[in-house]
Amino acid sequence: MKAVILAAGKATRLRPVTLTMPKALVPVANKTLIGYAFDVLKAAGFHEIGIVVNDLDSPIPQTLGDGTALGIKLEYILQEEQKGLAHAVGLCRSFVGDEPFCVFLGDNVFQDKMTPLFQNFINTGVEAAIALGEVSDPTRFGIAELNADGSIHRVVEKPKEPKSNLAISGVYLFRKSIFDAISRIKPSWRNELEITDAIQRLVDDGNRVDTYTLKGWWIDAGKPEAIVLANQLVLEELPYTPAPENTDQIIGKSEVSHRVILGANSQIIDSVVRGPVIIGDNTIIRNSYIGPYTALGDNVVIEGSEVEASIIMKNCVLRNIPVRIDSSLLADGAQVVAASRKPAAHRFVLAENSYVQL
Ligand code: DAU
Repeated sequence: MKAVILAAGKATRLRPVTLTMPKALVPVANKTLIGYAFDVLKAAGFHEIGIVVNDLDSPIPQTLGDGTALGIKLEYILQEEQKGLAHAVGLCRSFVGDEPFCVFLGDNVFQDKMTPLFQNFINTGVEAAIALGEVSDPTRFGIAELNADGSIHRVVEKPKEPKSNLAISGVYLFRKSIFDAISRIKPSWRNELEITDAIQRLVDDGNRVDTYTLKGWWIDAGKPEAIVLANQLVLEELPYTPAPENTDQIIGKSEVSHRVILGANSQIIDSVVRGPVIIGDNTIIRNSYIGPYTALGDNVVIEGSEVEASIIMKNCVLRNIPVRIDSSLLADGAQVVAASRKPAAHRFVLAENSYVQL
């Protein structure tokens, strides 16, 4: 069985981070977002994966290549215009052939490996199966109403008056019948071909669509705060490791707790680091405090500053910031530094949709 990951969206809600980096490559606990999709798919036995992208020459194929380094076989499928999830799935027809397949939304992170979902689909021969998660804000999702036996009665995309709090999460299992269903739907009010409408079409045709309710947390990581939360939830699961003792890397009056992963050639100098924290390679922390749920990328410099529950990507610099930085997302090469001479003013060079809270 093959799988397809949909990663062709414009990711406007994550700007300015996604002005230069596709959402799929945004790091969560120093691993790309799409890497979490690979983990679930590999655990379920999928090794041939198609990725739907909006540019065949984009950083996604450039970074992931043919997947050899990840132990999977990757192919790329072009969706030039983002006309909706059903449109994207329709483009995968020749990649998946006549076999059953999995569709995975590339911006979702799950605690659950969903093994029963995959096994039941293979064993029962139902026409489709989807994973559902309970949500507190059902108007933001595709929402399912179930029959007494747990199969789908109705699915509605972003309903104004939701009939349940069971949201369609980002994992779908289909057979080739979905392509015929897609060919018979019309664009929605938001002018997209909705996969939810294609699933409803399967149900209306008399097919059984099974459901699986997710265990544990699930994040639709489309917004900065959701990415920061995903980072916390993933770091929370870091297994226990004792406090590192390497004296080449932990220098001066430093205090480093357990559950701190320290990359090669990184140094903690006269600083306190309290895990769970992950630190990339060649990063320098001096006279600073790094608090729980923080991920620092490679080649980061943090001096005279305090950071907690944040993602600081590679090549960033934080210097002499007087207030603790919390729940923040800094993309590659961002710098936040205190003025080194008078006037001690704030000075900004910000990209479109940047956000600063002082
Ligand atoms: O996250 C779960 C929700 O995902 C479901 O509850 C909804 O039923 C489903 O429609 C979807 O809603 P979103 O509005 O969150 O989808 P979004 O536009 O964020 O797209 C999800 C992923 O699919 C994202 O990685 C981008 C990719 N995509 C999206 C579109 C519209 C494509 O590859 N092509 C597209 O045309």
